[in-house]
Amino acid sequence: MTETSPKGTVAYEVVDRIAWVKFNRPDKRNCMSPTLNQEMLEVIESLEFREDVGVLVLTGEGTAWSAGMDLKEYFRENEQKGLWATRKAQRQAYSWWERLRWYHKPTIAMVNGWCFGGGYGPLFSCDLAFAAEDAQFGLSEINWGILPGGGASKVAAELLSFRKAMYHAMMGENLTGTQAAEWGLVNEALPGDKLKERVTEVANVLLAKNAVALKATKDAVRRVREMTYDNAEDYLIRAQEAANSFDAHGRKEATRQFIDEKSFKPGLGAYDLNKQKA
Ligand code: ACO
Repeated sequence: MTETSPKGTVAYEVVDRIAWVKFNRPDKRNCMSPTLNQEMLEVIESLEFREDVGVLVLTGEGTAWSAGMDLKEYFRENEQKGLWATRKAQRQAYSWWERLRWYHKPTIAMVNGWCFGGGYGPLFSCDLAFAAEDAQFGLSEINWGILPGGGASKVAAELLSFRKAMYHAMMGENLTGTQAAEWGLVNEALPGDKLKERVTEVANVLLAKNAVALKATKDAVRRVREMTYDNAEDYLIRAQEAANSFDAHGRKEATRQFIDEKSFKPGLGAYDLNKQKA
């Protein structure tokens, strides 16, 4: 059953261990108002450690994923109130993107339509991203006279080559979902009517894997980007050893299933989590 946040800016439901979370301002193309940012943080926090949630998918109601920051409620109205209001609104937005970047469960952006500017924050926060072929991605900031802030320039520089990031940020032209996949902004682009099916398939693969190892893995990939090789090696040893303190049995059970039982091959798929529980 779909539930909504108190002011209705976020909708969510949990089905078969997948939390489907939606930007829910379709009339405003799901642009991010302070209310939405506050409610989104509350919703994702409420889902993060629920036993019945294994993967979170972030998508949008209607024709948009998110048309970026709300030019009226996020920018203009806060500017009129004063710097304190602008800073508060920034903190509200950035805090849920940050929460999502380090989310306890794997996260998938399912980009169903428009994705602009500030939308690149949560896009990057999600571990994986799948888009409709006809979705539209744009750093439109330059088209209305600002730089791609709120992390958007960083996202472009992280995910795109230098030349492509420059072109994307300076030209204000959109990419289709298909181009976004070619450029590396998303993992794959699919026909719109196949998008949910594919995302569900990917989520189910993740649900069948060791959850402790997944959290350690997604954090490792984000953290090592900013480390030297030596620091990364050291971090990864410690991260695995820390993960062992949360799950001391998983890898031993997997080794048993491969070496002794010969019931699976790690090169071809995940070990059977249910045997471990039994
Ligand atoms: N901020 C505030 N209101 C918005 C935003 C936004 N980012 N995006 C859409 N809306 C509102 C429109 O003002 C309109 O409101 P109204 O019905 O009260 O007039 C409603 O949403 C529908 O928008 P339309 O423009 O009529 O929708 P359409 O489907 O024709 O176009 C599109 C969609 C292309 C996404 C267009 O709305 C648009 O260009 N939006 C702005 C995209 C953008 O540049 N976002 C900011 C990026 S920069 C940043 O995030 C920091």
